[in-house]
Amino acid sequence: MSKILVTGGLGFIGSHTVVELQNAGFKVIIIDNLSNATENVLNGITAITSITPEFENLDLKNKEQTKTFFKKHQDIVGVIHFAAYKAVGESVKSPLTYYENNVNSLVYVLQELNKKAVSHFIFSSSCTVYGQADSMPITELAPTKPAESPYGNTKKIGEAIIEDLTKSNANFKAIALRYFNPIGAHQSSKIGELPIGVPLNLVPYITQTAAGKREQLSVFGDNYPTPDGTCIRDYIHVVDLAKAHVIALQRLLENKNDTNFEIFNLGTGKGSSVLEVIQSFERVSNQKLNYKIVDRRDGDVVEAYANTTKANTVLGWKAKLSLDDAMLSAWKWEQTL
Ligand code: UD1
Repeated sequence: MSKILVTGGLGFIGSHTVVELQNAGFKVIIIDNLSNATENVLNGITAITSITPEFENLDLKNKEQTKTFFKKHQDIVGVIHFAAYKAVGESVKSPLTYYENNVNSLVYVLQELNKKAVSHFIFSSSCTVYGQADSMPITELAPTKPAESPYGNTKKIGEAIIEDLTKSNANFKAIALRYFNPIGAHQSSKIGELPIGVPLNLVPYITQTAAGKREQLSVFGDNYPTPDGTCIRDYIHVVDLAKAHVIALQRLLENKNDTNFEIFNLGTGKGSSVLEVIQSFERVSNQKLNYKIVDRRDGDVVEAYANTTKANTVLGWKAKLSLDDAMLSAWKWEQTL
């Protein structure tokens, strides 16, 4: 069985990806420093797949420990790299913390992979690299824009570092996956999103409001140039997203890649407004949500949704689950917390 390292494998997207990797027959080893996850997630993964992945509590910012880890686990044939900080506002307040964590960790992992005869690497990137794109839907050829935040910049820098390495080392192959807005939870409700403190993202804020943990959802602006005035995003079910990682990894392992650095957008191709997300929640949960319209939030783009042609035709992956599926799974998960 091929052994795959998943860094940040106890996090939201990481844990769902571990489940899909194990379902597909891969042997998984997780690295996580538990900075934004708990070891309990391992129980959820085990409950779903009946397999407990190997786990090491390790901080990839520690270069020596990272080196030692790779020496000990020479049988790793592929790496899916999720480990990173992801709070936009926090990254503006503490840019160096973000650059140190997101960039140094990546470099240390790549330095170890660069020593191997062959290596296969999947990078967790974001549609944030496009900023406010000039036209919708967004293809992979849309120009990237200056990052709005240090967090966004770490994704742009990360992609550039990886691409440079593929140019210098023909045995290093990589795919960057640019996610649109990942939401939802596993249908078993055994794993899901675990925001620490007050959620910053829309969907956990909605479910926590409905669960009575938050008073009211604030909708940030209803005077945008969109049909109902609220911002539009491409909300993608985390299980669909997780499956794309397995397919991307298999593409590299089976030498099906066209070039040694490839980029794919991962979204549904469908834009939904904030009010449409709320309506979806109300539909699947059979209850009204308490919300009010407030001022716009700084840094929000008006709309972002993916052109999924490349992911559909080249990668051979397509999102199957709907916004309602995602909202129902998120709501079921919230009720277990
Ligand atoms: C945010 C980040 C993005 C990051 C992504 C990762 C910003 C500006 N962007 O994307 O860089 O890659 O998370 O998860 O932070 N909304 C409300 N009320 C809320 C929360 C959100 O109305 O309480 C609205 C927002 O204005 C936006 C939509 O919901 O229109 C989605 O917001 P969010 O879930 O934070 O995602 P993004 O801002 O798209």
